[in-house]
Amino acid sequence: MKKLIDEITAVVTSAFVENGYDEKYGKVTVSNRPDLCEYQCNGAMAAAKEYKCAPFMISDKIAEALASNPMFSSVESVKPGFLNMILAPEYTAQYMNRMKEEPKFGLETAKNPKTIIVDYGGPNVAKPLHVGHLRSAIIGESVKRIAKYMGDTAIGDVHLGDWGLQMGLIITELQVRKPDLCYFDSSFEGEYPKEAPFTLSELEEIYPTASGKSKEDDAFKEAALAATNELQQGRRGYRALLQHILDISIPDLMKNYANLNVSFELWKGEKDAAEYIPDMVQMLKDKGFAHVSEGALVVDVREESDAKEIPPCIILKSDGSSLYATTDLATMVWREKDYHPDAMVYLADKRQELHFVQCFRTAKKAGIVSPNTELTFIGFGTMNGKDGKPFKTREGGVMRLENLVKDVNDKMYEKISENRKAKEELDISEEEARQTAKKIALAAIKYGDLSNQAVKDYVFDIDRFTSFEGNTGPYILYTIVRIKSILAKYIATGKNPDAAGAILPAANASEKKLNLALAGFAGAITGAYEEKAPHKICAYIYELAEAFNGFYHETKILSEEDGARQLSFIKELQLTKDILETCIDLLGFDAPERM
Ligand code: ARG
Repeated sequence: MKKLIDEITAVVTSAFVENGYDEKYGKVTVSNRPDLCEYQCNGAMAAAKEYKCAPFMISDKIAEALASNPMFSSVESVKPGFLNMILAPEYTAQYMNRMKEEPKFGLETAKNPKTIIVDYGGPNVAKPLHVGHLRSAIIGESVKRIAKYMGDTAIGDVHLGDWGLQMGLIITELQVRKPDLCYFDSSFEGEYPKEAPFTLSELEEIYPTASGKSKEDDAFKEAALAATNELQQGRRGYRALLQHILDISIPDLMKNYANLNVSFELWKGEKDAAEYIPDMVQMLKDKGFAHVSEGALVVDVREESDAKEIPPCIILKSDGSSLYATTDLATMVWREKDYHPDAMVYLADKRQELHFVQCFRTAKKAGIVSPNTELTFIGFGTMNGKDGKPFKTREGGVMRLENLVKDVNDKMYEKISENRKAKEELDISEEEARQTAKKIALAAIKYGDLSNQAVKDYVFDIDRFTSFEGNTGPYILYTIVRIKSILAKYIATGKNPDAAGAILPAANASEKKLNLALAGFAGAITGAYEEKAPHKICAYIYELAEAFNGFYHETKILSEEDGARQLSFIKELQLTKDILETCIDLLGFDAPERM
């Protein structure tokens, strides 16, 4: 079904056409003077120029033509030539009733559904997830869910960092610590042990140590570079070590992502691209796209229109090692072969923009993807602490994601325990309180992130994010829980919310406002989809929650005596709850039963 605003535009447009004016003048927008009207059309102002008359002559005519239209309770022509419209409550109620019956509340899903690969997460194996990985996971998961809801086949790929220098660093450090392991003996021909020669916590300590050493010790760094190269060239012992690292890291990563309500269809990594590198490199050379520059193999990607210098994309280093761009390009090769996607969307820190420009240009130029494959980079800003600097632990170290989540969980648990005592809801078990705290904490974290435009930096403010008031995740959940509780009370009086009955025309302004907010669903989702911008859904549900709470405070729902009117309220509540729950699911979190 059409969006509300499109239905209105259609009616206003026909009034223009019937009065002899071009259809382009009938466009309706949400009023920027909500104190005066709900919708407006400024078309008469522009039409006046074409038809050489005073704008109000046109707006008067249109207002007259629309005066008896049941869609409006008032259409006013206001000098110099504006049309101010207020919808009839009968019409908005009827719109609500249609929304309730239609799948996805009447949303028109994508006309040409696409296959889209969303490349997000991007953790580096052997390194614990830190707060830097949070944004990619949160935003990517939402972008993927929105695409699926709109009808696309969306495939999430975690794209593990498992092929670069960090692997060489770990191998080198292991060799220093345990030189006698068979993995380092190049004459070893037997089977490597099934059991890894290290634990997860050892691994998590080995990487930062090795990385620190490589910054101070040139010989160590050289050794790590050489190990990286040998790993890539296929040295057996190193490949076996890589497998151990993956076997140990991946289950831990999966657990961490599951805690964030994030899941990937594909658990591929940079290393899965390795087998496609030789042919790809050959093709780039054969077709003349790549050439040698200072020993390295590069592809020029400059374009006439570039305002600043875009350096060439480096495909192979002089020692033949592959780089970040090499695996990203070779990853496109297998994605193209296995999925032939219409689009690929990448999420990474916005400081990686140049890398993606280079890769995308190389891929297009060399035909690694087809000319109409959409390649999009969503570069996100930094999550900062209250001091405005990248978020750190109290001691100034890199914050592990797990610890951040735990801090917010604990804070939420404290809060709801206080509430619980205050409300004497002592029937809530410890277990339920923990589970509830976890849900609200996740909403606090995700909403805190997603409510900002991705490209912007934001301040992780735990006090603000966990507040039950204001533009926060917990406020949205609180609204949903409030509705659930009213519905439960209604049912407890022996009534059936699903009994036959319609949503009746709004009885007052706050109810009308709620209707209009509900009607905004399709526009919000479509906007978020087209612009890959989950923050639009946050803005929408905040407006909806506000409208609902305004209505709730002005309306006696449970003590309403007119049964049909009460059932109408209940149906509006259900619609509000269903829409809010759908939206938070698209953002990647859900609501508890009570809080
Ligand atoms: N592993 C990378 C990092 O931690 C992010 C990967 C982003 N995705 C990609 N296809 N390059 O910075």
